Amino acid sequence: MRICLITGASSGMGKEFVKLAMQGREKYDEIWVIARRKDRLDHWPRLYKDQSFRILALDLGKEDQLKLLHEELNEVQPQIDLMIHCAGFGIMGQISEIPPSEQMEMVDVNCRTVAGLTSILLPFMAEGSGMIYLASAAAFLPQPDFAVYAASKSFVLSYVRALRREVKNRNIRVTAVCPGAVKTEFFNRAARQRHLPAYKKLVMADPEKVVKKALEDCRRNREISVYGKLMKLFHLAAKILPHRVILHFL
Ligand SMILES: NC(=O)c1ccc[n+]([C@@H]2O[C@H](COP(=O)([O-])OP(=O)(O)OC[C@H]3O[C@@H](n4cnc5c(N)ncnc54)[C@H](OP(=O)(O)O)[C@@H]3O)[C@@H](O)[C@H]2O)c1
Repeated sequence: MRICLITGASSGMGKEFVKLAMQGREKYDEIWVIARRKDRLDHWPRLYKDQSFRILALDLGKEDQLKLLHEELNEVQPQIDLMIHCAGFGIMGQISEIPPSEQMEMVDVNCRTVAGLTSILLPFMAEGSGMIYLASAAAFLPQPDFAVYAASKSFVLSYVRALRREVKNRNIRVTAVCPGAVKTEFFNRAARQRHLPAYKKLVMADPEKVVKKALEDCRRNREISVYGKLMKLFHLAAKILPHRVILHFL
């Protein structure tokens, strides 16, 4: 059985990836959709009646729930042609303002899950398959008032770059997606304590466009996918300027 597996498929960019997978040339025997909100995942088979979906309502921040996914994979023994990991969240605010439990939850969902999920999925990834991970432009440098989130996404970027090398001999393409602000439900939780800076509202990207570029970049085996001229400039600046200089202006 050949499948596409998408986490965070209940909202935002994960949702857009499901829609694009349905429009693409690739046909999958099943699309496995993962998130906590089952009611939203149940929407997919109703919308696309000709496609078979496997609904996995899992909290990926919890190790026992990852084990359930592992058991399902061992039972079905699928070949994964495309894996897209979108599940993640962030909370803006100073370290002293955010409850420690929420800071640790960010590390669990954004970092530990990437390590656990990848280890579970790798044996099932097909030769020539693709793996897409949602990092963020926040991965490019430390961010005061978004410290844990930015650090967690640096983890994702670093991890993806190493993983690429490790799976090169299996012809697996691995891409880290590093957008700036994207118009999704992300900010419902991220901006709960802090108002979103006005400039971020102005430069918010369309999720469909970010996702289209990410799929194309993965197809071309690009290490990083950065959407939009402004973010490309930011990426370049973060590479060539000392971070303390940029941080001075943030
Ligand atoms: N929006 C932005 O500005 C932006 C920019 C750069 C990077 N990103 C990254 O892009 C990814 C997707 O975010 P988005 O913008 O599409 O936000 P979103 O609309 O809030 O979607 C986040 C998805 O993650 C799932 N999720 C969160 N915690 C989970 C958990 N513990 N277990 C399983 N699923 C979980 C949510 O599903 P349930 O709630 O149903 O579980 C939801 O489907 C995230 O990793 C985010 O950090 C976002």
